[in-house]
Amino acid sequence: MMLELKNIAVDHGKVRALWDVSLHVEQGERVALLGANGAGKSTTIGAIIGLYPLSEGSVSYEGKELSHHRTAETVNEGISLVPEGRRLFPGMSVFENLAMGAYTRRARKNMAEEIEKIYTLFPILKEKRRQNAGELSGGQQQQVAVGRALMSSPRLLLLDEPFIGVAPKVIDEILDTLRKIVEEGVTVLLVEQNVHRAFDFATRAYVLENGRTVLDGDRERLLDDPEFARTFLGLG
Ligand SMILES: Nc1ncnc2c1ncn2[C@@H]1O[C@H](COP(=O)(O)OP(=O)(O)O)[C@@H](O)[C@H]1O
Ligand SMILES: [Mg+2]
Repeated sequence: MMLELKNIAVDHGKVRALWDVSLHVEQGERVALLGANGAGKSTTIGAIIGLYPLSEGSVSYEGKELSHHRTAETVNEGISLVPEGRRLFPGMSVFENLAMGAYTRRARKNMAEEIEKIYTLFPILKEKRRQNAGELSGGQQQQVAVGRALMSSPRLLLLDEPFIGVAPKVIDEILDTLRKIVEEGVTVLLVEQNVHRAFDFATRAYVLENGRTVLDGDRERLLDDPEFARTFLGLG
């Protein structure tokens, strides 16, 4: 098992955001985490990368418990995040934003090579490498955010609602890129509100509702499940 969350609870101050979340991701899988606004998707991601302490339960990565790890250690372990809202530095160049993703010693050493790989995945970024990230379109900015996350050569890539503010054509391009990345052996956990878009990519999903995992299963099984249809197919 690559990633395993066992009955985790997370509190934001006095407010419990996650109650009893369990999920697992196998090496090489494409898994979606679905749920409405406020369901607890970003909190779950934050718990995985060590941004939020666990009040209950455990997070394991490759059999090792991560519960007390800090974010930087998580990156060293091979987990990388494309955060909600992209979090680029708008006044810095595309190149500089990508360079920010080279957290690990290995990534810093191979930076030129890693950046060339990103430019091969997203050729437009090479063209715009000297422009400020803030001047790019939403879709191009998302490519920068994905590229930055790939700079540390992750084995597990987490994406938190990456398609907000991105044109449908560019979403398709980014999904194609993610498929390529999966073929190269990277495992992906994608947070998404739009079920159809999530299942354009993911083969299995978990559904979060009010901080609890309420449904999970393969794409085909979920799409046939009347409970899933009732809760989710109208969404997004
Ligand atoms: N830093 C925070 N402080 C207090 N409450 C928070 C914080 N982050 C999220 N919450 C609350 O936790 C719940 C889950 O939020 P979140 O994980 O961001 O949901 P989602 O990503 O699914 O939209 C929501 O009720 C939200 O208001
Ligand atoms: Mg969120």
